[in-house]
Amino acid sequence: MASNFNNPYIAPFDYVVFGGTGDLASRKLLPALFRRDRDGQIPPPSRVIAAARSVLSRSEYQAHVETSLRQFLDGEDLDGQTWTRFRERLHFVSLDATGEAGWPDLVCLLDDSPREVRVFYLATAPHLFGPIAHRIKASGAQSPDARLVLEKPIGNDLASARRINDEVGAVFAEPRIFRIDHYLGKETVQNLLVLRFANALFEPLWQSHTIDHVQITVAESIGIEGRGIYYDRTGALRDMVQNHLIQLLCLVAMEPPASLDREAVRDEKIKVLHALAPISAADVTHKTVRGQYRSGAIAGSPVRGYLEEPDVSASSGTETFVAIKAEVRNWRWARVPFYLRTGKRMPQKVSEIVIQFRPVPHWIFPSNGSDASPNRLIIRVQPDEHIRLSLWMKEPGPGGLRLRSAALNLSFAEAFKGRFPDAYERLLMDVVRGNATLFMRRDEVEAAWGWIDQILGAWAEAGDRPRPYTAGTWGPSAAIALIERDNRTWFEETLDIP
Ligand code: BG6
Repeated sequence: MASNFNNPYIAPFDYVVFGGTGDLASRKLLPALFRRDRDGQIPPPSRVIAAARSVLSRSEYQAHVETSLRQFLDGEDLDGQTWTRFRERLHFVSLDATGEAGWPDLVCLLDDSPREVRVFYLATAPHLFGPIAHRIKASGAQSPDARLVLEKPIGNDLASARRINDEVGAVFAEPRIFRIDHYLGKETVQNLLVLRFANALFEPLWQSHTIDHVQITVAESIGIEGRGIYYDRTGALRDMVQNHLIQLLCLVAMEPPASLDREAVRDEKIKVLHALAPISAADVTHKTVRGQYRSGAIAGSPVRGYLEEPDVSASSGTETFVAIKAEVRNWRWARVPFYLRTGKRMPQKVSEIVIQFRPVPHWIFPSNGSDASPNRLIIRVQPDEHIRLSLWMKEPGPGGLRLRSAALNLSFAEAFKGRFPDAYERLLMDVVRGNATLFMRRDEVEAAWGWIDQILGAWAEAGDRPRPYTAGTWGPSAAIALIERDNRTWFEETLDIP
């Protein structure tokens, strides 16, 4: 299987989507495939086969997709020609994921002029991953080169992740398993690799002598959006930190890989995961903060509290916000804390990485407080994607020497005109290419769960309950104290939200 990151070739494929009528398929997978088709990237005979428990005819499924594309294409045109072509790719098979019903129909469809690449995408609950993989094999649907794509969450803790990995590993070899973390498909996240390893400028500074600390914020203004059943037994630590924030941390902290080969990149990421300092029950109160939103307002509109959300237990102890002071114990990052935070119902949606540099060793200018704010590199992942470096400059004008902080600002929208593809567009096509660089390997997922499990265990041991915060704020005040204890502050910049 080719693993070249830049291999543009897309072979004709069959994408079998389990959970093909579900939320993820409607919101993300089908719009992504449609857009790739519109851009001419999908070869003619490729098919998209939805597999689900519901009983639908092919034309009913096509109508269902048309409706959901109209809803989720963000106002883009469902233009006639592409839709006519895409519609013809759509098939539907009703089957029982854990029983025998429907599988012969799937096999029959797949074997009817098989396409070059066969992908099974499991957009289902994780407890079905093992049983579906087993059925794929038992029914004869598996072809020698078939790929299996697993959506997060892969389990709920280390033990369940291992079980799932064992079950799917009994059917598919590791190089054919693609574990999705959609953050890795985001343009700005891939750009982290380019920023660090294609520019000579940053790498010599990328270490503890020059960097004071790193902040990673993934804030969302949305609440749990009707996902109460899933969310209430999951919480922010498992839903966001175990995957998205840890992946961002790995890309910031990893050593330069020898190449973009999937194993080279993932080998470096796993070293970071192994270097993450464990957080014990003794540390948990000063290194972590859990929060849960109460009613409040987002952009002027009132929103209810977490405990009033549908399908959430009235006495729930699930966190919707978490802040962590993490440490990567190696030479490069000694004494450089990584402050992570993520939360629902925060004032705005913003994901960003802040690299805070240390002050210069000796300040020769008149002190007007400027020596207190050293350089800072901001990598805005979303929205309004940009990279900004703050520098001290002389304020123009005669008399005295006044310094002012100015920014070198690279706005992606201005520098690179055109549409930013959704993360799934890249990832779905990378599966067909056989390129797993932007997917998580088994050991990465398990190492991340190992670190998370310790925090969950420490919270349980310390009897830690989430602290309330008002919806529309940046989380509980304890999160501010977490960083201010170290004489640092969270970088917060209010966006102009239209
Ligand atoms: C998902 C989480 O993985 O990521 C959601 O399950 C969260 O709770 C979403 O809302 C955030 O993704 P994005 O791309 O909107 O930042």
